[in-house]
Amino acid sequence: MSPNTVKHSEQHRGAVVPSRVGRRILTIVALAVGFLLTGMDVSAQGPADKPVSFKDDIQPLLNSQCVFCHVTGAENGGLNLGRRDSHAALMAASTEAPMARVTPGDPAKSYLIHKLKGTQLEAGGSGNAMPMYDPPKPFPKEQLDLVERWIREGAQKN
Ligand code: HEC
Repeated sequence: MSPNTVKHSEQHRGAVVPSRVGRRILTIVALAVGFLLTGMDVSAQGPADKPVSFKDDIQPLLNSQCVFCHVTGAENGGLNLGRRDSHAALMAASTEAPMARVTPGDPAKSYLIHKLKGTQLEAGGSGNAMPMYDPPKPFPKEQLDLVERWIREGAQKN
């Protein structure tokens, strides 16, 4: 191989490789934009318009974050959040504050929301924010939004 040939092929590569990479990047960008548009479409018309389901959205959240302390209703705040009793228990009056745990259509008059936000004292209640952790760990915003939306939509046993 003469030094000339080597130089030539390097130049050749130099010219071809970037444009191939460039095309690949364009393809990736196009796919990403397409993906984003599809995603936006789904969130604009899909889950946001679908009513929150107590069975499919709320109960799983109670199961994973609350039930291990609120099992029988005999102990913590007299509140049983197990699958069979949770809806009725949430509709009942609070044992800590002068309001229902859940007032259908009105998150601000739902003690459950105050406990999840940590505003239970302002609401005339007592005790800790829920879920109760030491040190306190805020209840995730998306989950709070979901519970609020379920209440605004009528707190149905759907
Ligand atoms: C580590 C145990 C623990 C966990 C986890 C927990 N709680 Fe509690 N909960 C308590 C205790 C203890 C009380 C009573 C004392 C207080 O309010 O701080 C209580 C009280 C409550 C009350 C007030 C009851 C009433 O009569 O109004 C509500 C509402 C509540 N919890 C909801 C929840 C929800 C919803 C979750 C899950 C997101 C949860 N808790 C997770 C221990 C727990």
